[in-house]
Amino acid sequence: MLTENRFRMRILGMNAVFHDPAAALVVDGRIVAAAEEERFSRRKHGKVCVPFSTWELPEESARWCLAYGGVAPEELDAIAYSYDPDLAPPDGHALHDNEYEALRTYFVRRAPGFMATALPGFDRAKVRYVPHHVAHAASAYLAGPYRDCAVIVMDGRGEATSYLAGIARDGEFEVLRRVALPHSLGLRYEELTMHVGFLRSSDEYKVMALASYGRPRWLAEIRAHMHHDGDGGFVALPIDFSQFVAERSAGGAFEDGHADLAASVQAALQETILEIAVWLQARTGARALVLAGGVALNVVANSYVAERGPFADLWVQPAAGDAGTALGAALYVAHSMGDEVEPMRSAALGREWTDDEIRKALDTANVAYSRPPDIAAAAAGVIARDGIVAWFQGRSEYGPRALGHRSLFANPRRADTLRRLNDVKGREQFRPVAPMTLLERAPAMFDGPFPSPYMLFVHNVHDAWKERLAAVVHVDGTARVQTVDRADEPLVARMLDEVGRRTGVPVVVNTSLNTAGRPMVDSPRDALECFGSAPVDALAIGPFLLERPALRAVAPL
Ligand SMILES: [Fe+2]
Repeated sequence: MLTENRFRMRILGMNAVFHDPAAALVVDGRIVAAAEEERFSRRKHGKVCVPFSTWELPEESARWCLAYGGVAPEELDAIAYSYDPDLAPPDGHALHDNEYEALRTYFVRRAPGFMATALPGFDRAKVRYVPHHVAHAASAYLAGPYRDCAVIVMDGRGEATSYLAGIARDGEFEVLRRVALPHSLGLRYEELTMHVGFLRSSDEYKVMALASYGRPRWLAEIRAHMHHDGDGGFVALPIDFSQFVAERSAGGAFEDGHADLAASVQAALQETILEIAVWLQARTGARALVLAGGVALNVVANSYVAERGPFADLWVQPAAGDAGTALGAALYVAHSMGDEVEPMRSAALGREWTDDEIRKALDTANVAYSRPPDIAAAAAGVIARDGIVAWFQGRSEYGPRALGHRSLFANPRRADTLRRLNDVKGREQFRPVAPMTLLERAPAMFDGPFPSPYMLFVHNVHDAWKERLAAVVHVDGTARVQTVDRADEPLVARMLDEVGRRTGVPVVVNTSLNTAGRPMVDSPRDALECFGSAPVDALAIGPFLLERPALRAVAPL
């Protein structure tokens, strides 16, 4: 009776400003649902990152979150929007001043009106603007596992800043330092991304992979433009990268200089973050550090700070990019309205389908499928025969990583698995793929931060295992390990056990279930489209297995 009588607090979080629009629903302090708009619209990153796209709202993900939680728009107690127009730079005299900045602010102020169109019935007076970096911060200190922790947020930009550092104690957050634009670690990394021929605000992880092929021969020069300022902030002004190596056009040839430049900027970035962490620990005395903001998706820098930094514990919000601000804003408002907020226990916060719904989708597509006694064992059998399995199970992941719900799995023993996976996905061949293994087995094979359930750190591969894990060892001897806790992911754990039983190595290659340039698969229809168009050997979708008539012939080891 107590539960039924309890006043229910329902908060919808929304990110709509820069990139990766997303929505999240928090009810009575509990995270009910969170999803990125791209998974619904099938448009990578949801929208173009320009000020005049700010009127676009994460409509489909918001509607789904509400439907999933059984909440009508008129029942919402607040909509938490992860940007505060009152903190934005002052408007110029005309809309085109400040690179359309005024247009962005104009649309943010009108977001309640746009929402009234997208979600008829909600009360526009209930929109709460949460400062962008406070939303990022809350996605780490309220969603993370520590009641008391130091917090660092680093991204391209928020309203007028690019960074904050602070301390959270029992849900209350104190900001200790901010850095104002134009200084920005994230924007400098984005500019580097463009300079080496990739897509900014999207392909930064490719630059991180490229960096491991280079040596930081321009570190001193980059350091002059990017360094800790001695007081918890940093200097990070625009750098003319063409003084080191010419800009690479998209799809153009790489020169050694591109990898060396990436290595130099990566090294300066790591040093800067480490020095900030040292400053923050000395200032707060905190034992744990949490990170959010797009720069926290830099797994190499995260590991650098975890290994060399002064904090005993480090947790990174898996949706560290702007998508995570939808969740952070909702949690922040929930806490400020008096709710006791529960930490997140999993990134599997998106859509799911019942077995019956999946079966209907397969029947509609008129494809042949079977229902093996154990889908985990059936998938393991295909993997052990060097097949690639598309794995679609449970709720989809919030954030950019596939974590065993919308994944492609393969055998890590063969070096050519990497080539084949990159071919299947249409990716560059220098891109590594990552291993997934059981939490209790990981330390025997890898060194580094454990547990690692969200793939946000890199690990050194023990020499004895390098040959047996040939597909997942990057050029620098590392791997970005995901550890699987049996209690959290029993089905995935069983698949890993079955792979281990068959091959002697309880590890699979895990990469996201999508092809290049497309968002991750979310629905059964997406899965069938991907399976139909990519040379994947089997699709394990719910309890059902679809196999191609014959496995692709692979030369024996
Ligand atoms: Fe951000």
